[in-house]
Amino acid sequence: MPRLVGLARFKPTRMSVVGFWGLGIAWAFTATAELTFTPAPDWLETVGVMFSMALLLPIATIIVDINAAVRGRLDDIADKDRASLRLVYLGLGLFAALPVLTLTQAMRASGGVVGFTDWVYGVEVLVLLGAFSAWLFAYVYHVAPPMVTRDARRVQQWHLWLTIDGVAIAVFAMIVGGLVVGFTWAGGGADGAPAVGDGFESTADAMWNYGFAIARMVGLMIIAVAQALLFAYATVAWLLSDNRDAVLAADPVLDAGGQEVNEELEVVAEAEPGWLRIGTIALAAGIGVFLLIVFLPSLESEPAEPTILADESRLFAEGSDAALGRDVYLREGCTSCHTQVVRPIVTDRGLGPVSLAGDYAHEQPMLLGVARMGPDLMHIASRGGVTVEQLKNPREDRSWSTMPSYDYLSEADLAVLVAYLNGLR
Ligand code: HEC
Repeated sequence: MPRLVGLARFKPTRMSVVGFWGLGIAWAFTATAELTFTPAPDWLETVGVMFSMALLLPIATIIVDINAAVRGRLDDIADKDRASLRLVYLGLGLFAALPVLTLTQAMRASGGVVGFTDWVYGVEVLVLLGAFSAWLFAYVYHVAPPMVTRDARRVQQWHLWLTIDGVAIAVFAMIVGGLVVGFTWAGGGADGAPAVGDGFESTADAMWNYGFAIARMVGLMIIAVAQALLFAYATVAWLLSDNRDAVLAADPVLDAGGQEVNEELEVVAEAEPGWLRIGTIALAAGIGVFLLIVFLPSLESEPAEPTILADESRLFAEGSDAALGRDVYLREGCTSCHTQVVRPIVTDRGLGPVSLAGDYAHEQPMLLGVARMGPDLMHIASRGGVTVEQLKNPREDRSWSTMPSYDYLSEADLAVLVAYLNGLR
């Protein structure tokens, strides 16, 4: 932003320092929003709610700070570097939606519906492919040697609008699709069957029949196409340009027309924020984090006692087939589609006994998972288990299955994987 604004002397304001640290700290803790209704202690769930709300503050601070910096200069910047400016604001707008989305996940009233659905990944797409890419592009547009001739502006526009459309379509499909799936689980699907085994078809239907799965795919592909377009154009423009050396030799801070901008910009060393102050804030933040994640948990009266379930079906002797299978499960990323936790809410009815903290007493790491793109596997053995054939060819029996085929795994890996799953009673 300082470069865009053309500030001769760049001095981070106090507000931007507060915004930066506030964001870093608050955002990290919103991760606990994914634990709503799990056996994690209640206070940890409350942390997710607290920090989702607290996140609003640094985001507001950053927006106010940036607006103060550009006040009165907006038209100027827009003339010189409209593409970068748009991208900065796009990123801010997308990021501002984050607290609302994580709060919905963290609060018990809504988290039971959206938790473990596509919603979870929709939020990630919004932030990673949306906000952060927008800022990255803004930066790249602004400092990269102009990839440019007269068409560059048009390419940038296409790139920008395709990216916005792609993110909007994908995120909309995942957020709304997630809601629909959540309500499907709560309502028990069309035939009232719980979302396991054949009953998971109504979950797949919820995503496919209303077009959410297609929209998600289309949105993500549009994003990819936009990046390919920009990259291809930049490469060709570069190869065809006859003043490559001049471009390389030039001050990188050029606008799209190859004009120099903000030439008097320099970061003044002594105007850098006081390292002492930043150090103090960092130390305070560190102590706060320590209190929250080390000290507070130790106040929990005592570690959870292993339950009967833990002792009888989730104790994996080192080197046993089940233990090796668990490693394969972890390595293959089954956790990105499968959870192993049953929450005490209507959404999870029919998945088996509600999970307790003690159920995981023997496991490290615990494989709770974050989303159910496939059924929960906490009690998979109790409902018939699984065969090697099913993992190799999931669509054999369930034509609607979106599970990838694992026929590339070795027979040994498949055998221990099945041994592990068929022990999860
Ligand atoms: C891309 C998401 C995805 C990944 C990754 C994935 N699965 Fe699945 N899985 C599904 C879906 C969807 C279903 C439901 C349809 C079916 O049974 O094939 C399913 C079903 C299952 C079932 C049957 C569950 C039941 O209730 O009958 C088992 C067992 C299973 N998966 C194990 C695994 C294992 C083990 C891995 C890792 C090696 C894995 N899955 C990776 C999506 C996934």
